[in-house]
Amino acid sequence: MAVPFATTPSRMKDCILLLSALLSVSLLYFQHLRLNLRPPTTFLSAVESPSPLPPPLSLDRVLFSVAASSSSLRSRATYIRLWHGPISHLNTTFLFLDRPPSYPTPSLPPIIVPPNTSSLSPGHRIARVVKDALALNVPGIYWYVFGDDDTLFFTENLVRILSKYDNNKWYYIGCNSESYEQNEKFYFDMAFGGGGYAISAPLARVLARVLDSCLDRYRHLYGSDARIFACLAELGVRLTVEPGFHQVDVRGNLFGLLSAHQLSLAASLHHIDAVDPIFPGVSRIHALEHLFNAVRVNPARIFQQTVCYDHTNSLTVSVSWGFAVQVFEGNQFLPEVLSLQRTFRPWKRGRDVASSRYMFNTREYPSDPCKRPLVFFMHTVVADTTGVWTNYTRHSARNCSRTKAIEKLKAVSVYSLNLDFGIEQAPRRQCCDISSVSDGTMTIQIRKCGIYELIAMRG
Ligand SMILES: *[C@@H]1O[C@H](CO)[C@@H](O)[C@H](O)[C@H]1NC(C)=O
Ligand SMILES: *[C@@H]1O[C@H](CO)[C@@H](O)[C@H](O)[C@H]1NC(C)=O
Ligand SMILES: *[C@@H]1O[C@H](CO)[C@@H](O)[C@H](O)[C@H]1NC(C)=O
Ligand SMILES: *[C@@H]1O[C@H](CO)[C@@H](O)[C@H](O)[C@H]1NC(C)=O
Repeated sequence: MAVPFATTPSRMKDCILLLSALLSVSLLYFQHLRLNLRPPTTFLSAVESPSPLPPPLSLDRVLFSVAASSSSLRSRATYIRLWHGPISHLNTTFLFLDRPPSYPTPSLPPIIVPPNTSSLSPGHRIARVVKDALALNVPGIYWYVFGDDDTLFFTENLVRILSKYDNNKWYYIGCNSESYEQNEKFYFDMAFGGGGYAISAPLARVLARVLDSCLDRYRHLYGSDARIFACLAELGVRLTVEPGFHQVDVRGNLFGLLSAHQLSLAASLHHIDAVDPIFPGVSRIHALEHLFNAVRVNPARIFQQTVCYDHTNSLTVSVSWGFAVQVFEGNQFLPEVLSLQRTFRPWKRGRDVASSRYMFNTREYPSDPCKRPLVFFMHTVVADTTGVWTNYTRHSARNCSRTKAIEKLKAVSVYSLNLDFGIEQAPRRQCCDISSVSDGTMTIQIRKCGIYELIAMRG
């Protein structure tokens, strides 16, 4: 190798020092990447969110406890495999069952059957999982997360949400139900257990110690989550609400819920086998696998809603990233587009759709398909070195008359930079531009809004 300068021994020493410094810096960087389990887009992301973030928690600091029963696990194991991924990736997840399963359970996290639980009611047994999880004595755990076997977790988003909080303090983090009636029946300030909740390690240790004496008082309550809520209330702890935990106390078509997600990271989705497949024409599990193709590429962006306007053609476009794009004819004011279309039914069977109350604003979903927006569902997701193309294809069963600008529209292509996990710090919705409509494809770019930019129809 040609050396452009004389290699005296002291020069050599400097070189070696410099090289080893470079090596350790790059090692640190790669270690950082590995711990974050993020796609290698950190540099770009830093451009998108220049404010410094607290160092992210790594996944192995979070113990996931999934409460299941040997009868339910059989059909729900595929959901757990989907969000959990290969066991080598995350080994701090445990399944807590009432009985050892009588069927094979390949590629699932370890199954724990705590002793002496067969005589307990399901609510009592599952509340005691807090104690059972602590009894595993897994070292280095900062947070204990609890969920059901029909809960999908978006683990990277969840970890990012927890990173905001000081794990040395007492925290109980989750969200209540979407349904006003369900909150009224239980408690408005309770974390619903199917949506999942997180308890910081010092609080979990204290709770585990007092749990049995507390649970004795609450045998009349239904469900484990109400009992945990009651015991935490006795300890003087309140719920910290994170709206990304989704109990999903609705039935039927989740489109209205998932196409207008709140401006926060999606942490979980529950009741996934009580609702329709989230993409049309495929099975539930295929639909969720399809969703995870996008989740794996850019978890922070999943379901994030971006709205843009085409003044010339009088169109309003709403993107729910990784899920669906809607094209409305005419100018829809932003607050309307952010409210949820009632595509779903109330959780309580027999209750009429219009009189049911939710914890958010809803609007009508026209029963006449020709009065609905054009809907495009996510078809492909392709990442390159700088960003991601998500392409959405038209879904419309009927031949409705539409304005000229969109009647031939077959697909929408959306380009976005990888979104870092900055949005939960001081969230601001992003903006988008409709850059072209040609050959039946509308192309949209998602980007950070300008400081004074307003999301509205201009012209
Ligand atoms: C998870 O894997 C790591 C690395 O292989 C190991 O150090 C740790 O003990 C494992 N944790 C559990 C709970 O098995
Ligand atoms: C289970 O219950 C039996 C009888 O009530 C008791 O003797 C035993 O100690 C219990 N085991 C555990 C692990 O709590
Ligand atoms: C859709 O409707 C238009 C007129 O309303 C008609 O000309 C066209 O043939 C129809 N297309 C299909 C596929 O039914
Ligand atoms: C997605 O859309 C872009 C822009 O129209 C296009 O270049 C790309 O080939 C499409 N990708 C797929 C997989 O359809």
